[in-house]
Amino acid sequence: MRGQFYVIGVGPGDPELMTLKAARLLEKCPVWFVPKAHQNGESTALTILAGSVSTEGKEILEHHFPMKKIRMGESVDAEVEAAWKAAAEAILAKLEAGIDVAFPTLGDPAIYSTGFYVCDTLLKTVPNLPISIVPGVSSIGASAAAVNQPLCLGDDRMVVVPATFENGQLRETLEQFDTVVMMKVHRVMGKVVGLLTELDLLDKAVLVERSSRSDQRVRRDWAAAVKEEPHYFSTIIVRK
Ligand SMILES: C[S@@+](CC[C@H](N)C(=O)[O-])C[C@H]1O[C@@H](n2cnc3c(N)ncnc32)[C@H](O)[C@@H]1O
Repeated sequence: MRGQFYVIGVGPGDPELMTLKAARLLEKCPVWFVPKAHQNGESTALTILAGSVSTEGKEILEHHFPMKKIRMGESVDAEVEAAWKAAAEAILAKLEAGIDVAFPTLGDPAIYSTGFYVCDTLLKTVPNLPISIVPGVSSIGASAAAVNQPLCLGDDRMVVVPATFENGQLRETLEQFDTVVMMKVHRVMGKVVGLLTELDLLDKAVLVERSSRSDQRVRRDWAAAVKEEPHYFSTIIVRK
């Protein structure tokens, strides 16, 4: 019988924010296929889960997924596509051998996770392949918790945007919604802070770096944040 493939959200960083289900399934799967952003770097997802689940006896297959922009509806960079295909082949080989495979992913799999590109690639080869998605605590919720704030209440409308991709639309988005969550902000801080200043929203905004981790920082020192470029794990919440 074919093995089962699980895409497992491991939360935003604090190992205690990993769900009981995530821990149980990771313990059950003999193979962990772990994504990493840099060829010679560590896997963030693996670092997080290793805080709660023992790695002993696990076959850990680390796989590099290049960090390049993916625009929905447009063709994908060849290097990125090759990484998805190689991942799908390696995972499928284990599944065909009857071995369960876990793909741990940062935060929640439903939010900008490579896990779903891998699922799509797998399904192109085996259309009926059973896949289980295990939700996790997203960095969005963890960032709101870091400032003891709700994201939305009553009839508030919230939107999540990948700030690196934003062109002229960010201004409009900031004007239209009650709460704007901006992810992937670290490279575009100057642009974002400039816009927040123009719209007189700087006092409604907060930057949360590495939410839920021991080195978490809640920041409103905008000039410094622009100058030094915050950590990749940074989210800005604007709540009017
Ligand atoms: C590829 S997305 C992954 C999101 C993830 N699936 C989730 O549910 O949080 C990466 C972006 O998530 C945000 N992020 C991830 N971890 C974070 C953390 N601990 N604190 C603040 N933002 C974080 C940052 O905006 C980062 O650029």
